Amino acid sequence: MSDLYCVFGHPIHHSRSPALHAAFAAQTGEAVHYEARDPGPDGFLTGWQAFVEAGGQGANVTVPFKEAAWRLADQLSDRAARAGAANTLKLMPDGTVLGDNTDGVGLVRDLIRLGARLDGGRVLILGAGGAVRGVLGPLLDEMPREVVIANRTPDKARLLSEAFGRSDASAVTGGHFDEVTGNFDVIINGTSASLAGALPALPGVRLTPDTLAYDMMYGAAPTVFMDWAAREGARCEDGLGMLVEQAAESFMTWRGVHPDTGPVREAIRQALT
Ligand code: ATR
Repeated sequence: MSDLYCVFGHPIHHSRSPALHAAFAAQTGEAVHYEARDPGPDGFLTGWQAFVEAGGQGANVTVPFKEAAWRLADQLSDRAARAGAANTLKLMPDGTVLGDNTDGVGLVRDLIRLGARLDGGRVLILGAGGAVRGVLGPLLDEMPREVVIANRTPDKARLLSEAFGRSDASAVTGGHFDEVTGNFDVIINGTSASLAGALPALPGVRLTPDTLAYDMMYGAAPTVFMDWAAREGARCEDGLGMLVEQAAESFMTWRGVHPDTGPVREAIRQALT
């Protein structure tokens, strides 16, 4: 008899998470059944209750329910507390709910796999919404020399930089795309602009072959951000690896076993094309 897990989202039909977790379960021999659940736009709390009554042990949570999951949790991991959002819930033996957030560690693991210079590096992050807030803590833990947050609405970037700014390590600043200048070791697109085929203009930014341009979005084709970065001579990558790494970390939170992500990433990539 398998333990029941799921991903909650609205919409959810395009989610790769069931395929990822089925692959992790097959690889590790863990008795996990994982499905996708769409509780409707306002149905997250009742959806979670019904899931627990059906024997659910834990869930991933995606757009638009990550903040609701964070509020639902009885206790939070440090990384979820900092993120202000939970992408992972775990039913504990005493019936309480643990909220975790594996997005940031997923991004950092994938950047390290790609050889990105984070420790001592200069990092530019585009966007200041929930997706960026969710990953800033683990990124700063890698001790970049400087983190610049740039956003269409610059006040949101400034607020985020103040919330995460630290005097003892990285310099964290926020502003508008127009204000950003110079070279960066890593540029991360955390806006949802790629979804609309839009591209933030970065007139003052210079890309080199040593720049890693990373889009947190992924798909069958390169995003407009990746196309731009490639034209400017940078190395580019989409967010498929982050998706796989965050899923593996959720699996670890639930089962105490960390899957080997490489073969699963390759299989999902093949399925996309
Ligand atoms: P998410 O949870 O994906 O982060 P969000 O909180 O709505 O979603 O944030 C979306 C981010 O993408 C924001 O930084 C948004 O910029 P604003 O704060 O100015 O709204 C950014 N974004 C969305 N569409 C964009 C576009 N066409 N060009 C530039 N930035 C865009």
